[in-house]
Amino acid sequence: MQKLKATDTAIKKAAKIIQNGGIVAFPTETVYGLGANALNKIAVSKIFEIKNRPSFDPLIVHIASIKDVSKYAYTTKIALELAKRFWPGPLTIVLRKKKIIPDIVTAGLETIGIRIPNNPIALKLIKYSKVPIAAPSANKFGYISPTKAIHITKNLKGVDLILDGGKTPIGVESTIISIEDNNCTILRYGAITKEQLKAALPNVNFLEKPNKKVIAPGMLKSHYAPNKTLIILNSKNKEKIDKSKSALISFTGKDTKGYKIVKLLTKNQDLNEYAANLFSVMHELDKKPIKFIVAEPVPEIGIGKAIMDRLKKAQGIR
Ligand code: TXA
Ligand code: MG
Repeated sequence: MQKLKATDTAIKKAAKIIQNGGIVAFPTETVYGLGANALNKIAVSKIFEIKNRPSFDPLIVHIASIKDVSKYAYTTKIALELAKRFWPGPLTIVLRKKKIIPDIVTAGLETIGIRIPNNPIALKLIKYSKVPIAAPSANKFGYISPTKAIHITKNLKGVDLILDGGKTPIGVESTIISIEDNNCTILRYGAITKEQLKAALPNVNFLEKPNKKVIAPGMLKSHYAPNKTLIILNSKNKEKIDKSKSALISFTGKDTKGYKIVKLLTKNQDLNEYAANLFSVMHELDKKPIKFIVAEPVPEIGIGKAIMDRLKKAQGIR
């Protein structure tokens, strides 16, 4: 599997691969994506194969210009206003899809998740390819998302090229919303918060309950999970944990005694810094000779909501 530093030449090479129906892993501002030409169903099918992703799980389509939304989806006034305010950025908007998008991309749904990523490498790749790029996170289905190129080389096979753009700055996946009339439903928490959405469009209702009819990542109980058992600390399990066999992912730096490994993800309880480091530390700890990964909960404010969502999914049903 080839990995290249994301120079302009490398991005051009990657764009050729996309045009020829190949698969390119590339950085976005959230996590690395595993990209294919969204208009080529054979190319898209390779993504499902490489990720071992069930065919009922739809992909997000990445574009480089707001003008392109209407090529692939039916836009609405609210969607366009949100797009203008938050794109390029970590907001995926679910809209009714147009026929040009093959069914495999949207897992047979009538809707399509679409966003403009805020990363110069990703944007160049889309522009040079001249096609929309379907890209889920570049990890095996259910495993931790990659925030560094090395997470991909270690865990995936069959990728034609990995564009190495360093560590992704946000570290958790985009916020996903769907829009129906004057109601917006948050399907997955991410860096864009409900408060920010509400501030942008005060007259729109923002609901937090995932729409039961839609297959969203939030509906799966176990996701973003390491192979090791992850436990979120609470008042009940606190005393029972075998610290000598555990690594602690710490937010406050408190009560770290006795753990075999301690990872403090932020010095000043900065939730954005914590989010940026979380998946990469989970990847690292998954390789260590420990039995449990213990995570201290974080306040559910701002990106903290997305962090707790990912920790709960990583804890899964175990
Ligand atoms: O930040 C991100 O969103 C990253 C980067 C690469 O852009 N991508 C990402 O993709 O996290 P993925 O496939 O790991 O998660 C996308 C989720 C899927 O689990 C899917 O359920 C949901 O988006 N999704 C996609 N299209 C949808 C649709 N039409 N309706 C509801 N949910 C949808
Ligand atoms: Mg994913």
